[in-house]
Amino acid sequence: MFRDVSSCNTYNYGDALYWDFRYIQEAGGAFDWYQRYSSLRPFVRRYVPTSSRVLMVGCGNALMSEDMVKDGYEDIMNIDISSVAIEMMRRKYEFVPQLKYMQMDVRDMSFFPDESFDSVMDKVWHRCSNKCFSDVRRSEQTSQTWRDL
Ligand SMILES: C[S@@+](CC[C@H](N)C(=O)[O-])C[C@H]1O[C@@H](n2cnc3c(N)ncnc32)[C@H](O)[C@@H]1O
Repeated sequence: MFRDVSSCNTYNYGDALYWDFRYIQEAGGAFDWYQRYSSLRPFVRRYVPTSSRVLMVGCGNALMSEDMVKDGYEDIMNIDISSVAIEMMRRKYEFVPQLKYMQMDVRDMSFFPDESFDSVMDKVWHRCSNKCFSDVRRSEQTSQTWRDL
């Protein structure tokens, strides 16, 4: 697949093209930004029951959701703006029914009916939005995720 990535730089964190290029370069690897599930587990287990319908925003190619399933979580919908990341993860977890992957911009989640999820998890996506989006665009994301809860 060829894409013109000439506009990509480290400040394009809100840009699907930037992430597509990055995930192509990483060629099927896995990477968790900042923390693995093992470090976050005490907080996650405290606030998110294992029976929750979880929405994982900006999942990337992190192992977070896989580790949560190994720890008993039953239903995790993972979304990401990068179609490359989503295709990769969908193939990787084809036989893990607890994990679902959809390419989606978190600022438009009209695909999901209200109250589709019990918990929303955002591991490092919001940092991208702080870097790249205006307050208005950030508030679009926040209102979309609240509607889905
Ligand atoms: C810093 S990475 C974090 C990945 C993963 N959550 C982790 O903790 O390792 C940010 C992710 O957010 C995704 N992203 C950026 N903007 C997005 C948007 N508007 N909607 C959905 N995902 C987005 C990127 O494609 C990227 O995979």
